[in-house]
Amino acid sequence: MFQLMKVVICYLSYSGNTEEIAELLKVQLEADDIDVDMYCIGYGVMPNLFEYDLVFLGTFTWDKGSTPEEMKEFAREVEGKPNNVYVFGSGDTQFGGDELYCRAVDKLARFYNSGYPGLKIEQSPRGSQEKLVSKWLEGVLEHAEGKNVRT
Ligand SMILES: Cc1cc2nc3c(=O)[nH]c(=O)nc-3n(C[C@H](O)[C@H](O)[C@H](O)COP(=O)(O)O)c2cc1C
Repeated sequence: MFQLMKVVICYLSYSGNTEEIAELLKVQLEADDIDVDMYCIGYGVMPNLFEYDLVFLGTFTWDKGSTPEEMKEFAREVEGKPNNVYVFGSGDTQFGGDELYCRAVDKLARFYNSGYPGLKIEQSPRGSQEKLVSKWLEGVLEHAEGKNVRT
């Protein structure tokens, strides 16, 4: 049976919203007996992304649809592109409407050729949006299974 062994969740968060999404993902993954390493970008030793079955990257969006500088720096430090990246993030439609909403999620997903649409959460995921997180994660795991990650 398909079994994921180990995943990493790397995220950048200023005010905690993206971190909350990361925490929700961690809890759900661990409930499925999946080992999860967490890395808050800029703190501690950067993990080797190429050692993981799946890589989750989380970012908020900044400055008219921009990817935060720290996230770009992180991507530069990775030196290469893992082919198993899934992207999530938090944003706010008040900063430019649908056009700029969570644009960094789309940009990162494109950069890593992620085969699955990124997860976009308006501000904090707590409350009604928690369902979006679990639904998205289900989709990711199905997608990964389809790619035969760790058979
Ligand atoms: C100066 C500023 C600019 C922002 N620009 C955007 C933007 O262009 N698009 C967007 O979706 N959200 C934008 N946001 C909203 C943040 O992405 C949102 O508050 C997010 O939840 C912050 O994530 P964090 O709590 O993980 O730091 C902006 C927020 C600030 C303060």
